Amino acid sequence: MDTILIVNPKGGSGKTTLVTNLAGYLARQGEMVNLIDTDKQKSSIAWLKHRSPHLPTIFSTHTHNFANFSVKPSWSIIDTPAGLNEEILKKLLKKVDLVIVPIQPSFFDFQATQSFLEILNTKKPIRKGQTSVALVGMRVHPRTITAQQLEDFLKRQGFPIFTYIHDAQIYLQMASKGFTLFDLSPAKAKTHIEQWQPITEWIQNAHKI
Ligand SMILES: Nc1ncnc2c1ncn2[C@@H]1O[C@H](COP(=O)(O)OP(=O)(O)OP(=O)(O)O)[C@@H](O)[C@H]1O
Ligand SMILES: [Mg+2]
Repeated sequence: MDTILIVNPKGGSGKTTLVTNLAGYLARQGEMVNLIDTDKQKSSIAWLKHRSPHLPTIFSTHTHNFANFSVKPSWSIIDTPAGLNEEILKKLLKKVDLVIVPIQPSFFDFQATQSFLEILNTKKPIRKGQTSVALVGMRVHPRTITAQQLEDFLKRQGFPIFTYIHDAQIYLQMASKGFTLFDLSPAKAKTHIEQWQPITEWIQNAHKI
């Protein structure tokens, strides 16, 4: 049983995109996965409603009870709202094994994320190494100044940087159809899936430990 928390209080950083695609990846591997949406906006749940029953099944839970939800299936992936406060973060950290923080390359995102990572660093499960954290650059335009600024920013944070997910129309197209990269034909998704490989390998390896 593994529980992955996707979190960054900065709005629009890519949390739901990470949650839905990682759930799609695990479901495609034949894993039982529960997508737990703790956001009032219910974006993940809305996405799931559009998912065809012919695609690998993803179970879901919508809850505001941050301390007391069930994590029964082999995998749970938690989507969190923008503006998540420290008290709730503390409760959630007690329930999770892995934390992924998505970050977009912009000054405002760096500023907000820096404060959040400083808070994260003070939390016991993180300090004691019981919970692992990884950073993921989202909506990156490769070989641009902002991509370089993002890399410089992430390197200063003291957490491993997992990968950079490029800015691509395919994410917007999939969002309204209940699809993930892992439901598309390899020809269509191959270059994008390569960018996700470091994260998918990380969660699989953590699962084995
Ligand atoms: N790699 C990408 N390329 C293009 N668009 C992307 C990418 N990642 C995310 N997006 C788009 O950016 C927007 C914000 O992403 P998303 O909804 O995943 O962020 P969020 O952190 O969940 O937002 P919120 O804080 O409002 O819950 C969405 O429209 C999403 O489709
Ligand atoms: Mg969201």
